[in-house]
Parts: sequence; C-alpha cells; structure tokens
Amino acid sequence: MSDHGKHPDFIVQQAMPFNGEPPAARLIEHEVTPLSLFFARNHAPFPTVEPGAYRLRAQGQVERPLSLSLDELYALPKVEIAATLQCAGNRRTDLIAHQPVPGEVPWQAQAIGNARWGGVRLGALLEAAGVRPGDAHVAFLGLDQVEKHGAPFGFGGSVPLAAALHGEVLLAYEMNGQPLTAAHGFPLRAVAPGRIGARSVKWLREITVQAAPSDNYYQAKAYRLFPPDVNAGNVDWPKGLMLDELSVNSAICTPAEGDRVPAGPLRLAGYAMAGGGRLVERVDASADGGTSWLQAELSPATRHAWRLWHAQIDLPTGNHELVVRAWDAAANTQPERVAPLWNFKGYMNNAWHRVRVRAT
Ligand code: MTE
Repeated sequence: MSDHGKHPDFIVQQAMPFNGEPPAARLIEHEVTPLSLFFARNHAPFPTVEPGAYRLRAQGQVERPLSLSLDELYALPKVEIAATLQCAGNRRTDLIAHQPVPGEVPWQAQAIGNARWGGVRLGALLEAAGVRPGDAHVAFLGLDQVEKHGAPFGFGGSVPLAAALHGEVLLAYEMNGQPLTAAHGFPLRAVAPGRIGARSVKWLREITVQAAPSDNYYQAKAYRLFPPDVNAGNVDWPKGLMLDELSVNSAICTPAEGDRVPAGPLRLAGYAMAGGGRLVERVDASADGGTSWLQAELSPATRHAWRLWHAQIDLPTGNHELVVRAWDAAANTQPERVAPLWNFKGYMNNAWHRVRVRAT
C-alpha cells in the first residue's frame, strides 16, 4: 500500500479508496496542517491526470463557455487564502458509540485540517465566462469514477452562485505553497470555505452554472441530514436537510481518551471551528463533565480558519471527564449530548467533546 505522502503515524481508515486522518496530538502541532498530516477523504481511486491534456470546462448559464488548460489557469490572477476543511463525517465515532452507523468511515475528531490554498477565484472565472448574478448554483464535477449502483460516475456537488461571486470559493492548484498532490485533487480542486468538505470537489473536470443545486448522488442523497428515526430502509432522500455550511465544533486533541495523567496541572489543547465564515469567539473547557468551565486561550482569528486553543487545569487524583465547547460570533454553541444528533449517515456531530482521563 502506498502511503500517499502521509506521516508514518497517519491513521489509515481505509486503503482503497484512501481514507485517513492524523493522530489527534499531531494535528494541533501546526496552525497550518502539513500535507503529511492532512486528512484524506475519497470515495473512489484517484484519477490519473495528464497535465498537458487537462482542461477545465465552465458551462451552463454563462455567455461564453470556457475550456482552460492548466497554463491558462496559472496565468489568471492568483490569490492565496487560509481555509480549514472539515468533513461532515468528522467525529462520527462519538455517534457510533451511541448507535451504530453502518457502512460509513468511523472518523475520529481529525477529519479536519487547515491549509493555505493558492489558485484562482471561482467568481473571477465565472465573470470571465459572462455569468449573470442571480439565484443560481455552481455545480462541480470531479474526474474520479465512483462505483455505486452499477454505472460509474464522477463525484460532484454545488455551491450557491452568490458565494462564488462573493469571492469566497477558490479553484485551487496549490496547497501550502506546493502543487496539489494526487490525494488532494491534482491538478485543480474547488475549496469552498465554511461549507462541508464534500463541496470542495477535487480533480475538477467541469463547472456548470445551473438553476438548481447539484443532482449528483453526493448532494441529492449523501450529505443530507435526517432525524434519528430515519434509516437506510425507510429513507426518503429528498426530505433530508441538504448540508451546506458547517456548524460550530471543537475537540480536545490532547490528552486522549483513557489517558493516565499525573495529578496536578494539566494542559488541554485542541481546535475549534465555525461554519459559514463566522469566527470562533470563545472556547470553554471543563474538567468536571461540564459543571464548571474556564475560558481557553485561542490562536488568532482568521475568517474561514480554525482556532487552536489550550487551557491549563488542575486535576486532583481520580477519574475526570474533560469537556470542550466552542461559541461562534452568532453565539451558536455546541449541543451537550450526542444522542439527539444521531443520524443514520453519521454527519455533523458537534456535541460537546468529552475525554475521560485518570489522574494518579
Ligand atoms: N472530490 C472528489 N472528486 N471526490 C471525493 O471523493 N471527497 C470530498 C471532497 N472532494 C471527494 C471530493 C469530501 S467528502 C471531503 S471531506 C473533501 O474532499 C476532503 O478533502 P481532502 O481529501 O483533501 O482532505
């Protein structure tokens, strides 16, 4: 099995398609996640792309459809943004601990990473194609071929045109100053900050401006949220909430569940992330299961990027439940319990993150 440029400690959840996440403690060693520690979420094998033959097509409700080579894309004005990607399935293991989620990757809390993305603004490209602002959607289609229900198809998803024209969405060819790797979408991917990771379509093949959201399987069916009584047997797909912006979330990355720690002062650390371009404003940590809280120290706030946090607590001898919760600029915060959030696809778990330790 190839390691796809990942760290030897990378937790491979699945070799094919390649799915993995870094160990929690390593994830928060860096404000900008190194490529070797950046989670990888794939629904199919990576497509092989011959750079010389590559074309990106922009079509649909545009006056001048485009077909651009990589050199033509590289010649457009380049921007660089920091943005955190988070999979809608992040923290699924906590949902699974409540009730099984069959057939989905059991992500811990590390299906998240923060990168510097270099590329072209989607809005600028669409303006060059003569798009007219309006209540439309921009659908992305990837070059990968997902084998599901008989006929292979490319992974896809859409974002509202307004978000693209706002300058929020990038067509990225660089990640942390380097060309994208195969695992992360070489030669070109969408980066849709503040939205579920599934909208950041990799190995981009075409972009279509259209009246309705993408009808791709990964938007029409998967990545929808259902109440706890719905399951694979009784699901009515169109009724599901079409996931879009991320909710506010946070996790304790160190110490780890079940750790034995010396009694006395202990440093807790982790990440916090808000969706939709909102900032994380406050992170509360608790050493007593959420009865009392103290405010964590936060790394600087940047729109669309996570904030790393740390807090110093004093632990007496015994068993303790450490908890974290974050607040965003709209005063959204995380729900206390995981049970009401459970859904059969295992998405969007943002319940308080809890870690049990024993101080000796
Ligand atoms: N794009 C394509 N073409 N195929 C995929 O399987 N996975 C999506 C998204 N883009 C996917 C894709 C999902 S679910 C997530 S969370 C992000 O890519 C993960 O990006 P990463 O692998 O670079 O971390």
